[in-house]
Amino acid sequence: MLQSFTGSLLLLLLWFGAPVCCEISSDFSQCLDFFYGRSPPQGITGAGYQPICQRYKNQYHFASLYHRQSRAPLYSAYVLGPAEGKRPSSTWLYEPQLAFSRANPEMKNFSIPVDQNVIESQAVLQDYKNSNFTKGHLNPSMHQKTRENREATFTLTNIVPQRAGSNSGPWSRLESEVLKKFKTFCNGSMYVITGGLPYEAEPRWINNRVSVPEYMWSAYCCPSYSASLPTSMRAFFPTYAAVGRNDKNSSEEIVPVNIKARASTRGYDVRRMSLETLEDILKQRLAMPISLFQGQCQG
Ligand SMILES: *[C@@H]1O[C@H](CO)[C@@H](O)[C@H](O)[C@H]1NC(C)=O
Ligand SMILES: *[C@@H]1O[C@H](CO)[C@@H](O)[C@H](O)[C@H]1NC(C)=O
Ligand SMILES: *[C@@H]1O[C@H](CO)[C@@H](O)[C@H](O)[C@H]1NC(C)=O
Ligand SMILES: *[C@@H]1O[C@H](CO)[C@@H](O)[C@H](O)[C@H]1NC(C)=O
Repeated sequence: MLQSFTGSLLLLLLWFGAPVCCEISSDFSQCLDFFYGRSPPQGITGAGYQPICQRYKNQYHFASLYHRQSRAPLYSAYVLGPAEGKRPSSTWLYEPQLAFSRANPEMKNFSIPVDQNVIESQAVLQDYKNSNFTKGHLNPSMHQKTRENREATFTLTNIVPQRAGSNSGPWSRLESEVLKKFKTFCNGSMYVITGGLPYEAEPRWINNRVSVPEYMWSAYCCPSYSASLPTSMRAFFPTYAAVGRNDKNSSEEIVPVNIKARASTRGYDVRRMSLETLEDILKQRLAMPISLFQGQCQG
């Protein structure tokens, strides 16, 4: 309690003590291209949300809405581009501008030891060590085209604590499926927004610092798609969504469990659904009327 109080105090001091400046942005104005219609999701209110235009090697690559108290993103938004190469060897990055408001907002390699202001302001690798959670990408590197696009996904502000059973099981199958739908039927850009949904009553944390999502969620918008879409694919365009379990023990109201799944991934099912159904779930769980894509992506 005391720790979180002094933590909040420090954040307040950082927040109000820092002169207003050019670098830490209060909106997504530098990276609107990653949102359909250049319009970020509407309806998200509340304190502590920090838009991040994810900048790496002098270029913007995607956008994340970071939540300071959770030290985790609510979502990452990106334009899908199939990888032109392998998954890069992961060099994990952090965001200096969360720790020092006047810092250059380029992602940086962690230095050793990690600066205390960086530790206060965001998740660090130590949080994940021995946590029994993997580092789950919201914007997965294989959905990104160039090597630099892919390297940029390795910032911990694009990561949530995800169970291995989800990350290497049903959730990774969903990511492959979305990629395949893009390659086969999407004629133009596919805008994807992927996030984590916190526990409803009692938040859970790793290392008492980083919020663990109970569910993963994702939605895409492909406004221009194949004119010769097979009947079986009509439900998947222009939008589609899914919610995945990140806790075997969750109730089955949102996502039912396939008890026949193999033990390593059992309880980590992903339920495919319409964009409207996902938005209903987000609305109930977050108590915010969230609209992910402008005009529901109806052109
Ligand atoms: C981080 O370190 C790696 C390996 O040393 C290097 O290849 C990369 O360019 C560095 N990235 C940044 C943003 O400095
Ligand atoms: C991780 O799992 C192991 C084995 O189930 C358990 O002993 C350990 O306490 C867990 N660690 C955390 C941080 O929950
Ligand atoms: C994709 O869009 C282009 C330009 O609008 C159009 O000419 C083409 O027929 C479309 N392709 C498919 C498969 O629908
Ligand atoms: C699920 O619940 C069981 C029994 O209450 C508990 O032993 C186990 O640690 C829980 N597993 C997870 C992943 O929370």
